[in-house]
Amino acid sequence: MSVLEQTASQKAIDLENKYGAHNYHPLPVVLNRGEGVYVWDVDGKKYYDFLSAYSAVNQGHCHPKIVEAMNEQAKTLTLTSRAFYNDMLGKYEKFACEFFNYDKMLPMNTGAEAVETALKICRKWAYEKKGIDENEAEIVVCENNFHGRTTTIISFSNDTVARKNFGPYTKGFIKIEYDNIEALEKHLESNKNIAGFLVEPIQGEAGVYVPSEGYLKKAKALCKKHNVLFMADEVQTGIARTGRLLATCGDCSCPEKNCSGTPDVKADILILGKALSGGAYPVSAVLANDAIMSVIQPGNHGSTFGGNPVAAAVAIAALTVVRDEKLAENADRLGEIFRSELNTYIKTSSIAKLVRGRGLLNAVVINDSEDSDTAWNICLKLRDNGLLAKPTHGNIIRFAPPLVMTEEQLMECVSIIIETLKTFE
Ligand SMILES: Cc1ncc(COP(=O)(O)O)c(C=O)c1O
Repeated sequence: MSVLEQTASQKAIDLENKYGAHNYHPLPVVLNRGEGVYVWDVDGKKYYDFLSAYSAVNQGHCHPKIVEAMNEQAKTLTLTSRAFYNDMLGKYEKFACEFFNYDKMLPMNTGAEAVETALKICRKWAYEKKGIDENEAEIVVCENNFHGRTTTIISFSNDTVARKNFGPYTKGFIKIEYDNIEALEKHLESNKNIAGFLVEPIQGEAGVYVPSEGYLKKAKALCKKHNVLFMADEVQTGIARTGRLLATCGDCSCPEKNCSGTPDVKADILILGKALSGGAYPVSAVLANDAIMSVIQPGNHGSTFGGNPVAAAVAIAALTVVRDEKLAENADRLGEIFRSELNTYIKTSSIAKLVRGRGLLNAVVINDSEDSDTAWNICLKLRDNGLLAKPTHGNIIRFAPPLVMTEEQLMECVSIIIETLKTFE
C-alpha cells in the first residue's frame, strides 16, 4: 500500500470523525465497492464480507436483479407518500403476504420502526380484542435482546451503553431470561395483562445465541394457550439467513426450507427488515393476519417513506432472488460445513473456544475475558488477510457472509479464519 493510498483511507476516516456523530466504532477499513460476496476498499484491496451489513446483504452486494428493479422504478416514480395510492404498493403487499403466508402487511423502513409497529399493534389488539384495561397491557421481552435503538426499544434493553442517560423509559415491559420456557410460563399463568411476547428466534447481536430445541415451539404454544401474541423479530435472522426462510422454522421438523412456518411455530406478528431489500434500500415490514392487523385504522400509524414505490420494487426483486437462487438451501448447507470445519480446528485450539449458529449466522467465542480486545485484534488481522468481520460483544466474533457464497469461496474463507486464529494461539 503506497503512502498516497493510505492517505485516501485516512482522509475518509478523518472526515467521518470530524463531521459525523461518534455513534459507531467501525473497523478501520474504507469501502467503496461491493459485488456478491466481495467488497473493495479505496485502495483497491478485495475482501470477503463476513458481516453482510448485519445480515442485510443476504443476496450479495449490488445484486444485478435488485439494482435493476431499483433503477427502473427510480426512473418512473419514487415517492407519493400514502396520501395517494401508487401502482406498486398493492403488488408488493400481495407478493409479500403470499410469500410469507399472512393476510396483511404494514410497510415501514428500518428494523426498529418495524419493531415499534409490532409493539403498537400488539397493545392496540390487547385493548380492543383481548379486553385488557387501557394502559395496563404488558409485553414480555428477553434479557440481552436487541431490537433497535428507539426510545421505547432501549427502554427494555439491558445494554447499559445503549440505555444510560436516555431515560425516562417507556413502561409496560417485563424482561425474562432468554430460552427459559418456565419463566415465560410463570408470567403468562400469573398475569392477565400480558398482551404479547417479543422474541428473537436466535439472539444475533447478543452473540448468536441459539435457543434450545423446541423453545420457540413451546413459547408459541404457551402464547396461544393464554391468548398472547407471539411476535418474532426476524429482522436479522429472517429471509434465509439461518438456512430457512424464517428462523422460527428452526424448530419445525418439516424438510421445507422456504416455508414461512406451520401453525405451531408461526408468529402471530412477524417483523422483517434488512434483507427484505437485499441491503439496497431501507425496507422493513410487519405481517399479521386480519384478526390482528384490523386494529390499525387510518391515522393510527404510518411513515412518509413506508411502502414507497422504490421500496416495493426492490423488495419484490430481493425476495424473488432468495427463492430463485435457493439461498436458504445454500445457507443451510454451507453453514453445516462452516461449523464442522471450525469445530475440527477448535478441538486443538487454545484461542477459539466454540462455534455456534444456524445456517450462515454463526459466531466464534474467543478464549479471553469479555472485556479483552483480543476479538477486535483478530478482526484487524482478518482484515489484513482479506476478510471482514466484527466482534458482537467483547470476545465473540460474528461470521455472517452473503448467502450467495459458493462452497469453494467458503473453504477459502475457512482457511483465512483458521490461519488467522492460529497466529493468536
Ligand atoms: C433483531 C433485530 N431487530 C431490530 C434491529 C434494528 O434494525 P435497524 O437497525 O434497521 O433499525 C436489528 C438490527 O441489527 C436486529 O438485529
